[in-house]
Amino acid sequence: MPLKSHTCGELRSAHIGQMVTLAGWVHRRRDHGKLIFIDLRDRWGIVQVVFNPDTSAEAHAVAETLRLEYVIQVKGMVCRRPPGMENPDLETGEVEVAAQEITVLNTAKTPPFYINEDTPVDETLRLRYRYLDLRRQRMQRNIILRHQVVKFIRDFLCNEGFIEIETPILFKSTPEGARDYLVPSRLHPGKFYALPQSPQQLKQLLMVAGFERYFQIARCFRDEDQRGDRQPEFTQLDIEMSFVDREDVMDVVERLYTAVIEQVSDRQLLFKPFPRLTYAEAMRRFGTDSPDLRFGMELVEISDLVVGCDFRVFSETLAAGGIVKGLKVPGGASYSRKQVDELAEFVRTFGAQGLVTLALDEHGQVRSPTAKFLSEETLQSIIRRMEAQPGDLMAFVADRPSIANEALARLRVMLGDKLGLRDNKLLALCWIVDFPFLVWNEQEQRWDPSHHPFTAPMDEDIPLLDTDPGQARGKQYDLVCNGYEIAGGSVRIHRREIQEKVFRLIGLSMKEARDQFGHLLEAFEYGTPPHGGIAPGIDRFVMLLAGEPNIREVIAFPKSQSAMDLMAGAPSPVSPEQLKELHLKLDL
Ligand code: AMO
Ligand code: AMP
Repeated sequence: MPLKSHTCGELRSAHIGQMVTLAGWVHRRRDHGKLIFIDLRDRWGIVQVVFNPDTSAEAHAVAETLRLEYVIQVKGMVCRRPPGMENPDLETGEVEVAAQEITVLNTAKTPPFYINEDTPVDETLRLRYRYLDLRRQRMQRNIILRHQVVKFIRDFLCNEGFIEIETPILFKSTPEGARDYLVPSRLHPGKFYALPQSPQQLKQLLMVAGFERYFQIARCFRDEDQRGDRQPEFTQLDIEMSFVDREDVMDVVERLYTAVIEQVSDRQLLFKPFPRLTYAEAMRRFGTDSPDLRFGMELVEISDLVVGCDFRVFSETLAAGGIVKGLKVPGGASYSRKQVDELAEFVRTFGAQGLVTLALDEHGQVRSPTAKFLSEETLQSIIRRMEAQPGDLMAFVADRPSIANEALARLRVMLGDKLGLRDNKLLALCWIVDFPFLVWNEQEQRWDPSHHPFTAPMDEDIPLLDTDPGQARGKQYDLVCNGYEIAGGSVRIHRREIQEKVFRLIGLSMKEARDQFGHLLEAFEYGTPPHGGIAPGIDRFVMLLAGEPNIREVIAFPKSQSAMDLMAGAPSPVSPEQLKELHLKLDL
């Protein structure tokens, strides 16, 4: 027999008159002398329990000893609350339970923070006592939402003929651009497993194996710098399909995301179907390949209007091969000197040299220390290009395209927040396509894959790999939501000679390629079907559905910003015996 006949959250007026047995935690306690009220909480909700000495003196006496978070079992009668005492904020607010018996199943120390209030608590403390933090309503909501999303995804894909297959965690390096987590082998001294940065090679090998439609809710491990939307281990929905092109993969994912947003969340999908931007267009209009499409304030280039002008910041940057690009802040003409300086300070943190601002006052006059260096004609052409209205502020960065784009993209998002244009009830999903196939690695002086080394180049761009590799585009696609990359995927290379060519291009010698990926190259010789796939990040998506500011809020036991588990204290030292068994010596 379970210790409860009903859940706390399910009781309604239909239950009035029934004897119930409940079990849960003391969420709140109010002592009115004669009457003691307990809000009893379990996973399904909260219900009020009343202890009246006239009903049971014994139970009332025990209730006097209760403290917050004690675990209790209560037997009593469901009653209608007296008129005027209903609580419309509680789903069970029409009723209460008149306690006849109580058993204290366990006591509790005073928690280090309030569990019954959504007050801000230092995150270190929350992570240290994560099991208590997870009791709080917000975290319960997030974790349950995550479960619903994953369940929906599983059901949806099963209906579409996908099967779920697990792949190993102890494997060989699968590069996705981060550092590997390594696991030393006891049985093979000096050798290491690598934890997968993604199941990339295995999902492709499952296509060689003939499964045609695979998915997995897969844990991935990447040792990279932490950010709010990154964790050392995170979860992907990993998908791979055979005999498809990119449209087929994008179609499944678009239908899945539309359905999950509409059926599982309370967020509103802004665009249907999802708009598509080429990489080049995203960079031009937003300065980033993960644009937030909930608001405008697009970036506009004015290089052609200021080439050769008297303002040296502009003309010298252009002469050196840079660009001049800017955006328009509606209503920004009224910003104080200090506010404008803050904007300039902000873009400097992203490497820009400064920010040129032109304010258009209510009479349409340009106010700016820079204006005197620009002819009236140039100023007017800038105003026209920017479509600036009286009251607007125009802000420009002159720099190398990569810096100008990044600084302005960040500025745009910062201003979007400041002006309240980023409503987290709205989800703006879009596809980014036609990525460059390779990116130049300045430090190493070689080409890197812009996605991963298994992505196929566009068929028509294959000849470019020999002549002008930087111009080739890849068959890859990203899904972006509200400024976050929430999925990435591609059509893969499925022929050995192309795969070898790509390995050569990215600077892998034939020996290195064979050592690292020999199994894959070999598999490609045994009848590999054309295939492609994608991997949506589950954590980021649930974060957006929950309206949370970082992915730690939707992961039960996340690592801290410094990649530590503050509850268990990981990573931690190991015993000399363990090191010896692993044939390891520390050199600290
Ligand atoms: P990619 O590297 O783009 O693609 O990763 C897929 C998605 O996973 C999420 N993601 C992360 N989430 C949290 N913390 C991290 N450290 C982290 N890194 C990535 C992002 C991202 O879009 N093998 C390919 C997929 C494929 O080609 O099928 C891959 O892993 O939302
Ligand atoms: P300076 O000539 O360095 O005094 O700069 C004049 C103005 O131009 C200042 O407001 C700077 O913030 C701005 N500025 C300098 N360099 C750049 C740049 N590369 N892009 C945009 N604005 C700049």
